[in-house]
Amino acid sequence: MSRPARAAAPGAGRGRRTREAPERGADRTGAEFEVEVGPVAHGGHCVARHEGRVVFVRHALPGERVLARVTEGSDGSRFWRADAVRVLRADPDRVEPPCPVAKPGLCGGCDFQHAALPRQRALKAEVVAEQLRHLAGLDVPVRVEEVPLPQGAPAPEHPGLRWRTRTQFAVDAEGRTGLRGHRSHDVVPLRDCPISTRAVAGSGVLDQRFGNVETVEVAAGSDGGDPLVVVTPSEGARAHLPKLPGASVAVRTPEGVHRVSGRTWVGERVPVRGRELAFRVSGAGFWQVHAGAGAALTEAVLQALEPRPGERAVDLYAGAGLFTAVLADAVGADGSVLAVEGEARAVRDARRSLHGAEQVELWEGRVEEALADPELAGPGVDLVVLDPPRSGAGREAVRGIAALRPRAVAYVACDPAALARDLAVFAEHGYALEGLRAFDLFPMTHHVECVARLVPTS
Ligand SMILES: C[S@@+](CC[C@H](N)C(=O)[O-])C[C@H]1O[C@@H](n2cnc3c(N)ncnc32)[C@H](O)[C@@H]1O
Repeated sequence: MSRPARAAAPGAGRGRRTREAPERGADRTGAEFEVEVGPVAHGGHCVARHEGRVVFVRHALPGERVLARVTEGSDGSRFWRADAVRVLRADPDRVEPPCPVAKPGLCGGCDFQHAALPRQRALKAEVVAEQLRHLAGLDVPVRVEEVPLPQGAPAPEHPGLRWRTRTQFAVDAEGRTGLRGHRSHDVVPLRDCPISTRAVAGSGVLDQRFGNVETVEVAAGSDGGDPLVVVTPSEGARAHLPKLPGASVAVRTPEGVHRVSGRTWVGERVPVRGRELAFRVSGAGFWQVHAGAGAALTEAVLQALEPRPGERAVDLYAGAGLFTAVLADAVGADGSVLAVEGEARAVRDARRSLHGAEQVELWEGRVEEALADPELAGPGVDLVVLDPPRSGAGREAVRGIAALRPRAVAYVACDPAALARDLAVFAEHGYALEGLRAFDLFPMTHHVECVARLVPTS
C-alpha cells in the first residue's frame, strides 16, 4: 500500500474555526470514492490522496481502506475534507463509538470515538512528535499518559467517558440543546453527552427547551455543590429559561454574569502531594476541563520546576490561580509568586482562593505588558510556569520570559502546534526542551495537553 506524504493540517492549532477562501470549480461536496487512508494529522483526521489531491478524512484510521464522502471541496480546491462513510478494510483498533452520535454527519464534538483508547493515545503521541519535528526541528519520543478520574468519582459506563466537567452546548431554532456538527453551524440535539460528567449531562439542560438563547454552558465543580448553568441570550433578545431545580443559573451579557438562582461560581478541590487546595471559579470562567486535570498538571509542573523554598516564581496566564497556589506552597513564606492574568473575574477568584498567602502577588493585565515592566517581573526570577490559550504565547512573551533568565520554565500547552512554534522561539533565546510529558486530558477527541520543561542552554 502506498502511503500518502504527510500534509499540513489546515486550520489545526489555530484555536478557531477556519473556512478557506472560496475556490473556483464545481462543488464536489457529496462526491464518494474509495481511498487508502494514510497517517494521522493534527486536527482529528487522517491524510489520504485521491487523484493527486490531499484529502483530510475524518472517522478513519491510518492503514484503512474506506469509502470517503467529500464534506468540503471543489475542483479548484488544494485539498478536500471528507468523512469515512463506510469502512472497506478496518484496522484492528477500530471500535464501535460508545456515543450514538459520534458518527459522520452528526456531532462534531469527538474525533476519535471509533478508535480504542490506547490507539487514540498513540495517534496523539504521533501528532505531538510530528508537530515538534516539523515546527521546532525537535526529535522527541512522546508517550501520551492516561489521566485517572479523581478518587471517588463514579465509574463511567465505558472507559474514556464522563471526564468533562465543563461543556458548552449550543441551542437550535426549536430551543433544544446539543452540540454542533464538525465545521458546521447545525446543532445536533442531545439527550446525553457521554464525555461530560453525569453532573453536567444530568444538570437538566439537555431535557429542557430554551428560548432566545445562543449557548448554555454547564460547569460542575468538585466541591459537591450544584452545577452552574450560564446562559448567553441571542443578541438583543430576552432569554426564556426553563426551570432547572438541580442547578445554579446565571445569564451572561456583555456587562457580566448575572445571578438568576443559586451561586454564580463553582468550587474546585485539587489534591496536591497529600494536601487539598480549594479554588473558586466564577461564571463558568476558565478551569481545566478534565476532572483529573488539576492533580495531573500540578504534579507535572512541580516535577518540571522542582521549586525550592525561598525561590521567586512567576505564573503567567494564571487563570483562577491553580499553579500559583501550588508554587506558593512550594516556595513557602520566604519565597514569592507573581501571578499574571488578563481577566478581571479570574483575578478576583484567585484573590479569594489565595487570600492567606502573603508571598503571592496577583497582577491583572496582559502577560506581554507584565514582562515588559522591570519593576514587576524584573531580575531574580528563578522559575516560570506559563499556560497560554490555544494560540500559544507568541514571540513577544517568549522573548520576555527568556530575558528573565529563570533556571527552569514549565510550559503547559493545549495545542502541540502552538507549543512547537513557541519552543522554536525559546531556542532562539537560549532555552532548550529538556523534558516533555503529554496527557490524555481530552479522551475521545484529538486534543492533548503537554507539559514541557525548558532550561537555559548556557
Ligand atoms: C489556558 S488558561 C490557563 C489558566 C490557569 N493556568 C489554569 O490552569 O487554570 C489561559 C488563561 O490566560 C488568560 N490570558 C489569555 N491571554 C492572556 C494575555 N495575553 N495576558 C494575560 N492573560 C491572558 C485567559 O484569561 C486564561 O485565564
